[in-house]
Amino acid sequence: MRKTVAAALAATLSLLVSSCGGDGGRGGAPNPGARVYSQHCMACHQRNGRGLGETQPSLVGTPTVSGDPAALIAWVAFGVRPPGLVRGRSLVVMPHFHWLSDDDLAAVLTHVRSSFGNDYPPITAAMVAEVRAAQGAR
Ligand code: HEC
Repeated sequence: MRKTVAAALAATLSLLVSSCGGDGGRGGAPNPGARVYSQHCMACHQRNGRGLGETQPSLVGTPTVSGDPAALIAWVAFGVRPPGLVRGRSLVVMPHFHWLSDDDLAAVLTHVRSSFGNDYPPITAAMVAEVRAAQGAR
């Protein structure tokens, strides 16, 4: 009997731990990009990446998502508006994610570029580091 209770408790605890993930969750999740997306992007861009009507844009096949990786990184991390992203389309202001690690940014952008019907080449942590350095040098 005791054993069952302990097992149930352990299961509950591990569930709690895995759903909290505020530490960047090095819990061995199969796809770190999907994890970062669900923590930081999904509330607005939705589970299917298609956003919500006029307020949160879709991430499927847009020039910003499919185009120059450096421009995509600079937008998501630093709010540098790329030429293909029309200003004033949305009443919502997107937060920016310079505080995510190079690895997490690379993972989430690679995830976005290879999900929801997108099929664009990956983004590496080295690309993120390069954009970060260029931003710092401004
Ligand atoms: C609070 C809501 C919100 C969150 C959270 C959010 N976004 Fe956005 N996102 C927006 C809005 C609103 C825009 C359009 C902004 C604009 O045009 O000024 C946008 C635009 C974008 C675009 C450009 C869309 C296009 O037309 O190509 C990309 C790419 C993007 N977001 C990626 C992300 C990623 C990746 C994350 C998570 C790391 C994220 N966003 C988190 C609201 C959000």
